Amino acid sequence: MVVTAGLFATQDALEADADLARRLLLVDFTNTVVFCEHARRGCSPRGGGTLCVFSSVAGERGRKPVVLYGAAKAGLTHYLEGLDHKFRAPGLRTVCVKPGFVKTSMTDGLQPPPFAGEPEGVARDRPARDRPRAAGRLRARHLALDDAGHPQPAARGDAPHQVLTG
Ligand SMILES: NC(=O)c1ccc[n+]([C@@H]2O[C@H](COP(=O)([O-])OP(=O)(O)OC[C@H]3O[C@@H](n4cnc5c(N)ncnc54)[C@H](OP(=O)(O)O)[C@@H]3O)[C@@H](O)[C@H]2O)c1
Repeated sequence: MVVTAGLFATQDALEADADLARRLLLVDFTNTVVFCEHARRGCSPRGGGTLCVFSSVAGERGRKPVVLYGAAKAGLTHYLEGLDHKFRAPGLRTVCVKPGFVKTSMTDGLQPPPFAGEPEGVARDRPARDRPRAAGRLRARHLALDDAGHPQPAARGDAPHQVLTG
């Protein structure tokens, strides 16, 4: 299962709008974790599987431009690490994907850095060992992979179970 849902807003926008900040924290951390817990419980009776979840390099350390978004992703990354430690032996493999800047609808309107990636290239070039052999998948608009690890542009509405309402 691949979970790509996420919300981004600039640090300035988040500092100016407490409701937006609360929603981002809810979607990027709490509701993603709750969703993964549902997925984990669903995998156990089937003997395991692979859970691939998109976090971000923004969670690697505290930085001025991404104080809040980075904090949510840091929490998510740590949860996924713990999940993998605890449930890998019984059969649930957890893969945490931490992209850098990728040109998607999430980053529309932002100045791309020189090393910015394209969604298809980033998905294609990920190390093969990290590619999930997913029994099922959730698709977001970009950065979704098929079972062979190929990028799948997916349309809005493709993911009826991907509801992380904030
Ligand atoms: N692009 C980057 O530079 C970058 C870098 C690091 C990490 N990431 C992470 O990679 C993942 C994919 O991002 P992306 O760049 O492909 O962004 P995107 O095109 O904006 O995709 C984000 C997806 O999340 C869904 N979503 C947002 N809020 C939701 C909610 N409350 N409930 C259910 N679904 C929700 C969106 O659904 P709708 O289309 O219906 O709105 C969209 O399909 C995200 O987790 C993001 O944080 C991206």
